[in-house]
Amino acid sequence: MLASVFAETWDYLMAGTGDGRPPFKTMQAATIGLDGSPNVRTVVLRKVSEQQNVITFHTDLRSPKIAELTRDPRIALVGVDAERNVQIRVSGRTRIVRDEHMRMAAWNASRLQSLIVYRTLLAPGTEIDQPRDAFDEARQPHGPNEGFENFCVVDVEPLMIDWLDLSAAGGHERARFQRVDNAWDSCWVAP
Ligand SMILES: Cc1cc2nc3c(=O)[nH]c(=O)nc-3n(C[C@H](O)[C@H](O)[C@H](O)COP(=O)(O)O)c2cc1C
Repeated sequence: MLASVFAETWDYLMAGTGDGRPPFKTMQAATIGLDGSPNVRTVVLRKVSEQQNVITFHTDLRSPKIAELTRDPRIALVGVDAERNVQIRVSGRTRIVRDEHMRMAAWNASRLQSLIVYRTLLAPGTEIDQPRDAFDEARQPHGPNEGFENFCVVDVEPLMIDWLDLSAAGGHERARFQRVDNAWDSCWVAP
C-alpha cells in the first residue's frame, strides 16, 4: 500500500511535466534567503525522473534564488491537486547544472515563448520605474541562442517526500518517504 502511494506520488509529479494543466505543472519552491529568512516562489516542473531521483526546473542564473541556492543548496517544494485535495511536499538538495551540453539540450527542448525571459538586460528583481522598462525593445535577438548565458537548469535531488491525501475514503492519509543510502524508507504518519 505504501508502495502504491509512492508510485502514485511520482506519477503525479511526472504528469506535471506533460501537456495541459496538470495539478503539478508548477510547485512552490522554498529556499533559505541570504539573511536566513525563507523565500518561496512558483516554478514549472521541466523534468521528473524517479529512476534518476531528480526533479528539474529552469530559472534565470541572475535571479536571487540562484545566489541563495549557491550559498545553501537545500530546497523545499510543495504542490497541491486542489480538486482531489492531495498535497505533495519534497525537500532535498539542488545542483546547478554547469554542463554546457546538458544546458543546451534543455534550452533546445524549451519553447521559444519560455526562453524570451532570459533575453532581458535587467536581472530579475532589478527595481524599475515602470513595467515596460524591463523590456529593451531595441534589443533584437541576434540568434536562437540569445539569452542562453542566463539560462539555468536546476536539478533537485529529493531526500524526503511527504504525501497527504485528504480525499481518502477511510479518512485522511499521510505517508513519508525518506532517502537513505540511495533507497527509500517509507512510513505512514499521522496527518
Ligand atoms: C505560473 C508561474 C510559473 C513560474 N515558473 C517559473 C520557473 O519555472 N522558473 C522561474 O525561475 N521562475 C518562475 N516563475 C517566477 C517565479 O515565481 C519568481 O517570481 C521569479 O523566478 C523570481 O524569483 P526569485 O526572486 O526568488 O529568484 C513563475 C511564476 C509563475 C506565476
